Amino acid sequence: MSIRTILTVPDPRLKLASKPVERVDDDVRALMDDMVETMYAADGIGLAAIQIGVPKRVIVMDLSDLRDEPRYFVNPVITPLTEEVRPYSEGCLSVPEIYDEVERPVRVKVNYLDYDGEPREEIAEDLYAVCIQHEMDHLEGVVFIDYLSRLKRDRAVRRVQKLVKTKGEAA
Ligand code: NI
Repeated sequence: MSIRTILTVPDPRLKLASKPVERVDDDVRALMDDMVETMYAADGIGLAAIQIGVPKRVIVMDLSDLRDEPRYFVNPVITPLTEEVRPYSEGCLSVPEIYDEVERPVRVKVNYLDYDGEPREEIAEDLYAVCIQHEMDHLEGVVFIDYLSRLKRDRAVRRVQKLVKTKGEAA
């Protein structure tokens, strides 16, 4: 396993639509292992493969307090189960240190293949619903700041660019 570099906005790769995985094999599992390690190292709760530059429909997540319950989603599909939406202050490892409210349906159905390639279906609510919808957006090339006003989005991108530059100079 290895920690990969996380792309940050405005990297154009974050705008790519990711492709379905044909088979959950050892290569895909190695990718998921790297993604989980990268997510933990960055203290995140979710990561999509495109965030490390791999345009495949793969997501990892860990919403547990002890950060010892990694979850793997291959080719996920979500279906909203309600029209009720709720705002949540979201962040993203590709938009470090920026948080803002996004409204999303509060309950969705998630169909996906797990780490072993087995099909699964779950109902996601609360933080799980927020996180899976946020990560699904990454697979379509959408980042949460795309929901904000142009002014807020531009400001967020500039702040991230400045932050990345400062960190690069410090390294
Ligand atoms: Ni994100």
